[in-house]
Amino acid sequence: MGNEFLDYYGKYNISPVHQNIDDFNLHMTRRKKLYRQLGMPIKLFRDARVLEIGPGGGYNTLCFFQWGAKHIDLVEANKAGIDNMRENFALYGIDASLYDIFETKIENFSSENYDIIIAEGFLQYLSNSGEIVKKLKGMANESGIIVVTCADDFGDFVETMKRMIAHSFIKEVSEHNERVKILSHIFEPQLKSLQGVSRPVEDWVQDQFLNPALTNGVEWTIANAIEDFSPEFETLGCSPHMFSDWSWYKNIWYDMKTQYLAQYKMRRFSLFLAGMEERAVDPDIVAEIDLNVRRAKHSAREYEISYDNTLFLKASEDMESLCHLVQDIDPNLHSVFCQIRDAFRDINEAGICWNRYPDLFKAFGRGMQYVGFVRQ
Ligand SMILES: C[S@@+](CC[C@H](N)C(=O)[O-])C[C@H]1O[C@@H](n2cnc3c(N)ncnc32)[C@H](O)[C@@H]1O
Repeated sequence: MGNEFLDYYGKYNISPVHQNIDDFNLHMTRRKKLYRQLGMPIKLFRDARVLEIGPGGGYNTLCFFQWGAKHIDLVEANKAGIDNMRENFALYGIDASLYDIFETKIENFSSENYDIIIAEGFLQYLSNSGEIVKKLKGMANESGIIVVTCADDFGDFVETMKRMIAHSFIKEVSEHNERVKILSHIFEPQLKSLQGVSRPVEDWVQDQFLNPALTNGVEWTIANAIEDFSPEFETLGCSPHMFSDWSWYKNIWYDMKTQYLAQYKMRRFSLFLAGMEERAVDPDIVAEIDLNVRRAKHSAREYEISYDNTLFLKASEDMESLCHLVQDIDPNLHSVFCQIRDAFRDINEAGICWNRYPDLFKAFGRGMQYVGFVRQ
């Protein structure tokens, strides 16, 4: 089974998931907030047997040690990630008896009886995520919790459109490090405008704009995850915290799965932009938006293969339709979409000048959603 993440990271010997954790308390506060949104107070980690898959440099793992995990198994198939993880554990004085590192794919690993399983940052782009989930379910103990990440066509749309623009800057450049240098220079001011970012711009560029896994057409959504985890597991929580449950606690027959699937469909529109409030949108309009989003994303994928500039004109027509569709729903998103359309037109004429797209400049989607599941 192909794995674009591992092929790409291996090819350039990179693990572009470094985090600035100089302020370790701030790092833990961010992670604590994530798990609170997932319905997991950090107390759960005390004395827990944890399995973390794809930890990269182990930045997040450091929090689990700090929160008192009894033992952590780490399954990581990327050598550069493992080297970085060993450095970090040495730097933070982590006792070697507290963990084991397995340099292999999760597909080739087996063990059981974990209290908590963490699989963050990759499942959403693997074509075999359903198979992996089946395996993870067998590894969690009686009341085990599994955390995964998902992707959504709306959530990563803005970044995909920025990625298409990014590729117009590097169409003549083939050397990886040179591409990273050019794009980091161009996009650093945008990333810096996003409050709370802890990742270096070079890493962000390598993953967001150059990682082929992100545009491989695979999209494992929250709805897919809910289906794949049922019936043995139910949703514990989600970041963003998009689900509500008004059922009476004595109503133990409440069909949470059906309710959450319906809520996801109704609320996913707000994944388009970080910071957007919840917007209730007519399902027919959502379907039409989806169609145009998929078309524009298709052009973006094609562009990376052919570097044919007429694809920008094609995509600008899809953006024009999207502008009409969202104009009465969210003024900020409307403005971002219009500026994407303008940028696409400008590429073939005046060229890109970010001053002309101030809202696009500071726009980021909710590209990755975290979901926690607990065994029923
Ligand atoms: C984007 S990084 C996320 C790193 C970290 N979990 C985080 O959230 O910051 C994805 C990680 O998953 C690893 N990975 C991808 N597919 C994997 C697989 N099948 N088995 C084990 N690790 C995998 C990659 O090597 C990489 O380190």
